[in-house]
Amino acid sequence: MEWDAAYAIGQSAVDGDHQRLFQLFNQFNAAIAAGETRESANRFLRELADYSAYHFRREEGLMHAIGYPDYAKHKKMHDTFADFVRRQSDSEERDLEEVQFLQSYVEMWLCGHILVMDKWFGEWLDGRAGKSGAAEPIS
Ligand SMILES: [Fe+2]
Ligand SMILES: [Fe+2]
Repeated sequence: MEWDAAYAIGQSAVDGDHQRLFQLFNQFNAAIAAGETRESANRFLRELADYSAYHFRREEGLMHAIGYPDYAKHKKMHDTFADFVRRQSDSEERDLEEVQFLQSYVEMWLCGHILVMDKWFGEWLDGRAGKSGAAEPIS
């Protein structure tokens, strides 16, 4: 997964977290390409679970603090992904096909979520910043 400007939502802490998620994913891909499967998948899933929990807390905290109208829907998507990662990291047996499924699913979810859901949040932030500040209601 190559990071480029299309993924930026314009909120530096969130963009930094997303770049770290890309980096984690790329390390996982490199390990798979080098022939590691089960160990690297388990390590990746643990790291992904920890880091995405940290990132989702940050993003949700920001949304909640400023009254983002789609907060509940957005949080639900985070929760569903976090559950998937947690369930996967409990799996003891994993063959190459399952590892490849994991790669595709995580890549698709991260890209899709950032490009659609997180971007909407970025656009909402921009619109809010563009309006004349103090007069703008929070929710
Ligand atoms: Fe998000
Ligand atoms: Fe995000």
